[in-house]
Amino acid sequence: MPQDRTELDHQKWMHRCIQLADLGKEWVAPNPMVGAVLVHDGGVLSEGWHHTFGSTHAEVECLRGWPGEIPTGAVLYVNLEPCAHHGKTPPCADLLIERGVKSVVVGLQDPFAAVAGKGIARLRAAGVDVRVGVLEAECRWAQRRFLTSVEVERPYIILKWARTADGFLDQQPRISRTVQRISTPATDTLVHRWRSAEQAILVGSRTVVNDDPSLTVRLVAGRQPLRVVLDREGITPAASHVYDAQGPTLLFTGLQRNDISADQFRIETDTDPITCILEELHRRSIRSLLVEGGAELHTHFLRSGRWDEVRVITGSGKFDRGTPAPQMDGTAAMRRTSDTDLIELFVNPMSPITKDLQIDPEWHL
Ligand SMILES: NC(=O)c1ccc[n+]([C@@H]2O[C@H](COP(=O)([O-])OP(=O)(O)OC[C@H]3O[C@@H](n4cnc5c(N)ncnc54)[C@H](OP(=O)(O)O)[C@@H]3O)[C@@H](O)[C@H]2O)c1
Repeated sequence: MPQDRTELDHQKWMHRCIQLADLGKEWVAPNPMVGAVLVHDGGVLSEGWHHTFGSTHAEVECLRGWPGEIPTGAVLYVNLEPCAHHGKTPPCADLLIERGVKSVVVGLQDPFAAVAGKGIARLRAAGVDVRVGVLEAECRWAQRRFLTSVEVERPYIILKWARTADGFLDQQPRISRTVQRISTPATDTLVHRWRSAEQAILVGSRTVVNDDPSLTVRLVAGRQPLRVVLDREGITPAASHVYDAQGPTLLFTGLQRNDISADQFRIETDTDPITCILEELHRRSIRSLLVEGGAELHTHFLRSGRWDEVRVITGSGKFDRGTPAPQMDGTAAMRRTSDTDLIELFVNPMSPITKDLQIDPEWHL
């Protein structure tokens, strides 16, 4: 059905809000990503976005950019419901009312209990015209980390691995304790961007033993996520990079380690380690987790059904012998190339978050 001009305009400006919100991706968590645009007569008066955790909200920044009177007919677009509570900053809904904004278009109602429709209700009670649900599916995709945390009470889970063209994660037998390169330098840079967009990175004990990865963000400017290691038996050497001072580390262990300075969380032998990790990360307000392998750890996540996205990088080289990469059922929702590597994105059709999500067709990795 053809859409009218107003609806297309709403979508255009909501799309702009999502683009602005995305600028904060690496810095705002555990806050949601929000962008706002003030529009009048088809032109932008002002824009704003949430830059870092605890900083000025997008709507406030947007209105600060237009200190004059709000013209009649101006519309404020925002991808997430304006807040109605005193958090680190005063309620945005009150500011919109005070500044005389008469029309607001919201992408998504905020599921966070302190807001959850109260911002919209407060605006309407003050006579503001509020439209909710423009590009709602796209807004949910952009906000998937925050939504998973609030709605499912666990971090958003991305499993990521690189495999050779003949399907191996590594080459065996090992000759040195170092990461074996599968992807190109361009893809490595991309992976560092992925890392800085998530709040935690998890690896298995044998990956630390065999590869000694650093799990740091080095190739791009960005926030260093919490490094997380699962090693109940204490097989990872104390001199491993993951226990160095380049970033914080949390070790899930069955026994207290006195030879490392990393934060430690005790796992009882009768507990499922994945449940334990997800509960503890959620308790720490960690909204997203990038699992970087190896094969066994990925397989446990896949079998448990607790994953939202899988990103598979396929390089052009071959190893002939090694640890086989996990097999994905179904077709990739998205395929991209990065130099000579293929990157595929799978979304979990059973995940309460990704099953109804609409992936941004412009997904830029
Ligand atoms: N190409 C890539 O992208 C990539 C990435 C990472 C690693 N690798 C390669 O993968 C190899 C290591 O892989 P791997 O499969 O041998 O070992 P791994 O996955 O690194 O280590 C096995 C992990 O499985 C965990 N585990 C055991 N039982 C579990 C359960 N019931 N639920 C959840 N987790 C459980 C273990 O925990 P406990 O130790 O506590 O038992 C351990 O952390 C390395 O040689 C490395 O080169 C490749």
